[in-house]
Amino acid sequence: MRRALIAGNWKMNGLIAEGMKLAEELAMRLERAREVGEPPPPSCDLLVCPPFTLLALLRDMLAGRGIALGAQDCASEAAGAFTGDISAAMLADIGCDYVILGHSERRHHHREDDALVRRKAEAANAAGLTPIVCVGETEEERGAGRALEVIARQVRGSLPAGAAASGLVIAYEPVWAIGTGKTATPADAVEAHREIRRVAAELLGASAAVGLRILYGGSVKPDNARELLAGEGIDGALVGGASLKAGDFWAIAASCP
Ligand code: PGA
Repeated sequence: MRRALIAGNWKMNGLIAEGMKLAEELAMRLERAREVGEPPPPSCDLLVCPPFTLLALLRDMLAGRGIALGAQDCASEAAGAFTGDISAAMLADIGCDYVILGHSERRHHHREDDALVRRKAEAANAAGLTPIVCVGETEEERGAGRALEVIARQVRGSLPAGAAASGLVIAYEPVWAIGTGKTATPADAVEAHREIRRVAAELLGASAAVGLRILYGGSVKPDNARELLAGEGIDGALVGGASLKAGDFWAIAASCP
């Protein structure tokens, strides 16, 4: 049985005061829910991925409080003369368990391609991190009927060699749904997730692919989360905008079936 993962991608948001406040509010909600058992604690794992600058502070604040920590990118190289880059080992060292890789904003703004995303994912695995590898088609590709083909190509090109399902998460994020308020229909999302799992099975093996967590991302909000998260093969959400409000993020987590 795959346990759902609700991940907050804070993107380039959060100075120290607001980031600390947001994380504290989430941790408090989880504590309160656990204490009273009503409403029940979310039946999912919680993860926040703040900017690099908040990782050390949040590690200390969230230690032992049931919310995992992740970063939003890492270098493909292990160490050396790469000014401005952050290695996967540095992220593991600072307390991260996860790292988002190949987000469409990095694919587009920083021209990251599948081969680079794969190298980063391999670096993440080598450092003991679980990469959340993002894939997803543009509006134009969907309009041309090529969504599944594009997703399949990205999965084949971006997954780390020798990955185990337990050390990997894939996020299906249709580019046209990110930050736009548009979401894939539950039926389209289910279809995309089925294709991702089918291609992942070719790479990881059929039984491993059954255990692989595949998240949906793109304008997930409290009012659409329940329907999306109920979709077959949708194992959680990668949440951008709505993860910046503790109440909204919590409501999404509480929508896990
Ligand atoms: P959004 O972002 O929820 O604001 O659409 C999702 C993401 O980019 O991961």
